Amino acid sequence: MRAVGSLLAVASLAVAAPALSQSIASKTINVDVAIVGAGASGAYAAIRLKEDFGKTIAVIEKSEALGGHVSTYDDPATGLPFDFAVQSFNNYGPAAAFMQRLGISTIPAPRVALTQRFVDFKTGSVVPYVPSSAADRTAALQKFLQVTEPFENFLLPGYWNFPAPANIPADLLLPFGDFVAKYNLSAAANQVFEVTGMGVGDFKNRLTMYVLSSFGPPMIRTFLGNGTIMVPASRRNEEVYEKIQARLSSSLLLGSTVVQSTRGNSGHVLWVKKGSQYTLVKAAKLLIAVEPTTANMEPFDLDTKEKNVFNKLSYQRVHAAIVTHQALPVDTSLVHIPTAGAPANYMVLPTPNHNARFDYMGYNSTNWRALMVGDKNFDRCAAEALLNANFKAMRQQGTLPAGGPAHLTVKAWADHGAMHMHASASDIRAGFIQKQYELEGYRKTWWTGGAFSHQFQAILWAFDDTLLPKILA
Ligand SMILES: Cc1cc2nc3c(=O)[nH]c(=O)nc-3n(C[C@H](O)[C@H](O)[C@H](O)COP(=O)(O)OP(=O)(O)OC[C@H]3O[C@@H](n4cnc5c(N)ncnc54)[C@H](O)[C@@H]3O)c2cc1C
Ligand SMILES: *[C@@H]1O[C@H](CO)[C@@H](O)[C@H](O)[C@H]1NC(C)=O
Ligand SMILES: *[C@@H]1O[C@H](CO)[C@@H](O)[C@H](O)[C@H]1NC(C)=O
Ligand SMILES: *[C@@H]1O[C@H](CO)[C@@H](O)[C@H](O)[C@H]1NC(C)=O
Repeated sequence: MRAVGSLLAVASLAVAAPALSQSIASKTINVDVAIVGAGASGAYAAIRLKEDFGKTIAVIEKSEALGGHVSTYDDPATGLPFDFAVQSFNNYGPAAAFMQRLGISTIPAPRVALTQRFVDFKTGSVVPYVPSSAADRTAALQKFLQVTEPFENFLLPGYWNFPAPANIPADLLLPFGDFVAKYNLSAAANQVFEVTGMGVGDFKNRLTMYVLSSFGPPMIRTFLGNGTIMVPASRRNEEVYEKIQARLSSSLLLGSTVVQSTRGNSGHVLWVKKGSQYTLVKAAKLLIAVEPTTANMEPFDLDTKEKNVFNKLSYQRVHAAIVTHQALPVDTSLVHIPTAGAPANYMVLPTPNHNARFDYMGYNSTNWRALMVGDKNFDRCAAEALLNANFKAMRQQGTLPAGGPAHLTVKAWADHGAMHMHASASDIRAGFIQKQYELEGYRKTWWTGGAFSHQFQAILWAFDDTLLPKILA
């Protein structure tokens, strides 16, 4: 409940009186920059602001650990680590130097050799699908790179140079299915989808510019053999964020969320809650590094200009899990392909809500990785029910053997929440990207993370490098 403001305050359009008074806080922290969220983009910005620019910072992170989408499962059976969310780090922009700076030695991302079996997870039946040949796929990827490289400067590592509405290349706003047809790229479509593209949701109808934010020129180059993908030599991706956490320790407010704020050009006051305790964070500048969903933005007292941007974004909800069952096949990847995808309709791909696959995770483990993409209401309960429905259908069709428990056992689960935020073509033609980027610095607030850049660790680090000088100016 909001306290009723005085008539004078309402008349002068002053900030609505906060429901919580400042005196509720047991502690006050004064900093140059408050950072909300410590996943890929927030944690990297925090290290640089603190260590390279000597700023005082407070990092407010709702989880007890940094790292956001990075999830390592340390298997109690073997002691081996299994990364089931973020798989690896592209050697893009500052990534290699940053790993070195953290004292992390890296190795090329190891690959577990898997036999693919194509199955329609809805019916449970094997699909007689014939993937494109390696030669056709390479040719299609080369073409994909050739036709998207001219856009790289508009898109990467963020949309700073995105063309004004009148000059937006038509290709960027084509539904991706039309783009693929126009340039004859279908031999590469399945790979683009399976690696990262599935995250965008309705792959065929998503605007090409947003598919490129999940698999763009840097990724295409890597798949063509130009560029490397790395992991820590420990094979524990969480090591990256554990190292960052140790270096930031005194600046961290973990297990904490902002529940109320007053924001303005003369500074911000954030009411930060942990359990039943409140801390007031007073900051000259604010960097928001969480997905700007309605729920996440609720405590930030957005004004109309800000709301008019975020109201235009839609998103997917993504989950990753490690499951086990005696009926799941070792050394195998069960890949979800709709029956109509056979034998070679490469743009016939699953649409949300779906589970993309069950991948054996190797190392003599009893671990299989599942990867689910849905709409905004696709919670863990719905996602787990979907996995079990896929599994049951495969057993009913004899695709997987009978025996053992009726349900999969979940060993680890990560609800990644909102991802792949995107606007419509008509909003982009009406200047959406420019209006989104006008928010950088507006009300002494800056924005980073997937919704302002791309869904890759290293690209977000590079994006932060372009943003930090603006925050410091
Ligand atoms: C399954 C999966 C696999 C992926 N694989 C790769 C890969 O192999 N390579 C790669 O480069 N990228 C990969 N990505 C993408 C990459 O992880 C994301 O693009 C990146 O993590 C986004 O960074 P971010 O800073 O925007 O958000 P996040 O990393 O999600 O960070 C947001 C942080 O904010 C916190 N938070 C959320 N809400 C609040 C709140 N209200 N208050 C305070 N804190 C809050 C969260 O706990 C989190 O720590 C993968 C993503 C997923 C889901
Ligand atoms: C389209 O690509 C396929 C290979 O994927 C190739 O066989 C075919 O000749 C190409 N068609 C045209 C019109 O270039
Ligand atoms: C590899 O990519 C870089 C751009 O990142 C480019 O400059 C270089 O020419 C590419 N090399 C090859 C062999 O394609
Ligand atoms: C799996 O176990 C076998 C037999 O115990 C062993 O030879 C092999 O090296 C193991 N493989 C891995 C990847 O650990």
